Amino acid sequence: MGSGIAQVAASAGCGVVVLEADRTALDRGMAAIRKSLDKFVDKGALDAKARDATIARLTATTDVADLAKCDLVIEAVVENMAVKKELFRALDGLLAPHAIICSNTSSLCVVEMAAATKRPANVAGLHFFNPVPLMKLVEVVKTIVTSQATIDALFAFARRLGKTAILAQDTPGFIVNRLLVPYLLYAIRMYEAGLASREDIDEGMKLGCGHPMGPLTLLDFVGLDTTYYIAEIMFDEFKDPLMAPPPLLKRLVLAGRLGRKSGHGFYDYT
Ligand code: 3HC
Repeated sequence: MGSGIAQVAASAGCGVVVLEADRTALDRGMAAIRKSLDKFVDKGALDAKARDATIARLTATTDVADLAKCDLVIEAVVENMAVKKELFRALDGLLAPHAIICSNTSSLCVVEMAAATKRPANVAGLHFFNPVPLMKLVEVVKTIVTSQATIDALFAFARRLGKTAILAQDTPGFIVNRLLVPYLLYAIRMYEAGLASREDIDEGMKLGCGHPMGPLTLLDFVGLDTTYYIAEIMFDEFKDPLMAPPPLLKRLVLAGRLGRKSGHGFYDYT
């Protein structure tokens, strides 16, 4: 997700500093950006000069101090509140007072991250969708203390990226995942109960409802671990059984079957 966000910002002409936890993750992210830009060049949607200019606007680092001059920081680390709060605290001490700090969280409480800083009015959610270079939507998440100036700046930023922004409240799942996650979990329950084959569940939603991917294919694409974390957070907040992670999802995650990224999820990609 982070590499996709960095890519679309650099493509829109912004200078981008990409921070990763270690060199391996950084190299992987930068390679993903190159691969995606190459796809656009192959398709004729981008010329090689523009690709090279986009790459030149990206600076890769593993040192948080290199973010000091940024006007906007978009955090896309693991869905773990303690890790996010620690990063928000560090960023708050580093950035200029006018800078905005956003989280790409899909379900965690944004105001809790804002409260870890001394600039809560300058903190919001900015939630992208996978694959970021192709999906047109961004959710701008307003906490009860986000200023209107911050929201306006984020809508303008989304427009600059060529995305359409929608305004969401700071509740788990925001707008899209609040609808999407229970649907995906229900598809797992149907499969788990033996009501249909995984192929028929996917074919049903593709051909019957015009979805680009069936739910089990989409789960593999998003990542089963990611979906599991989101479901746990949503269930914890709402106590709605529709949001509880099904046993099969938990077992697949425990077995390391995380979807496409691990080579195996509901389907085998090896
Ligand atoms: N960069 C550049 N190009 C890419 C790309 C990328 N990252 N990924 C795919 N493409 C290109 C392919 O090269 C291909 O180009 P072509 O048409 O010229 O051959 C084109 O996009 C279509 O790709 P594919 O043929 O591989 O497959 P599809 O036609 O199925 O399209 C898709 C892929 C756009 C991913 C489509 O299947 C889709 O829209 N799927 C649903 C995705 C979705 O629902 N995303 C939201 C998930 S929820 C989320 O992210 C929230 C989070 O909080 C969990």
